[in-house]
Amino acid sequence: MDQQAGASTASDEAGTHRRITSFVQQRNRLTEGQTHAWDRLWTAFGLDVADVVSGLVPYDPPAWFGRRAPLVLEIGSGTGESTALQAAAAPEVDHLAVEVFEPGLAQLLMRIDEAGLTNLRLLRGDAVDLLRERVPPGSLTEVRIFFPDPWPKRRHHKRRLVQPAFVTLVASRLAPGGVLHLATDWAHYAAQMRAVCSGEPLLENTSTAADGWTPQPAGRPETKFERRALAEGRDVRDLVFRRISAPHPQPPN
Ligand SMILES: C[S@@+](CC[C@H](N)C(=O)[O-])C[C@H]1O[C@@H](n2cnc3c(N)ncnc32)[C@H](O)[C@@H]1O
Repeated sequence: MDQQAGASTASDEAGTHRRITSFVQQRNRLTEGQTHAWDRLWTAFGLDVADVVSGLVPYDPPAWFGRRAPLVLEIGSGTGESTALQAAAAPEVDHLAVEVFEPGLAQLLMRIDEAGLTNLRLLRGDAVDLLRERVPPGSLTEVRIFFPDPWPKRRHHKRRLVQPAFVTLVASRLAPGGVLHLATDWAHYAAQMRAVCSGEPLLENTSTAADGWTPQPAGRPETKFERRALAEGRDVRDLVFRRISAPHPQPPN
């Protein structure tokens, strides 16, 4: 599959190549409750992206869920506040949540348990690797990215997840008619998302507003990040882009 889509590399002073990621890998300790949930539930509901990418375990959603259903992929599910609510609200749809933050995944396992969800599975690791290496083209009904890390400092903008190569990768994995739903409370990142997605030939903006924003879709629940942003006076922007079958023909020069 595409070798470089969605990833970028930089050379450090020793001349070795390291990949720029959209996250910082931290060693976070799980609370007692999270550890308990992890020990009980991870093998039933979770997989490591590295194991899927290496081929140690298959990427096979119909086998994992035990049925063939529309498939939503959420990137960076955090503690899974909206993930669990959206999965509960759409039992006919299967949901994959990809996250690197282990306590967040553990928290989501607890939510799965509490709500008795059967249509949600978790993947621990980098969503870019999963998309690039294992998710077949045209296989996703929806990709959700809610409140991705904003990397507000200018010198860190290159770490932002939503970049042209990444959006091209996501668009290729969506089925025609499938949607990419983005939300952020950082005005600069929102403008970057709108520009990058508008520049992707396989996507079209579903918004009818002149500025291209979409009012918060009824299905997206408010999260902790969102409440904090609103309390701090930042506006939240939603963007919903649809995958088209083939790029619109360009007018001749
Ligand atoms: C600011 S949090 C938002 C969490 C959640 N979406 C919400 O709205 O509450 C962004 C999350 O994205 C995760 N993340 C960033 N890049 C990622 C990647 N490439 N693959 C998987 N998760 C990623 C981070 O670990 C972090 O938990």
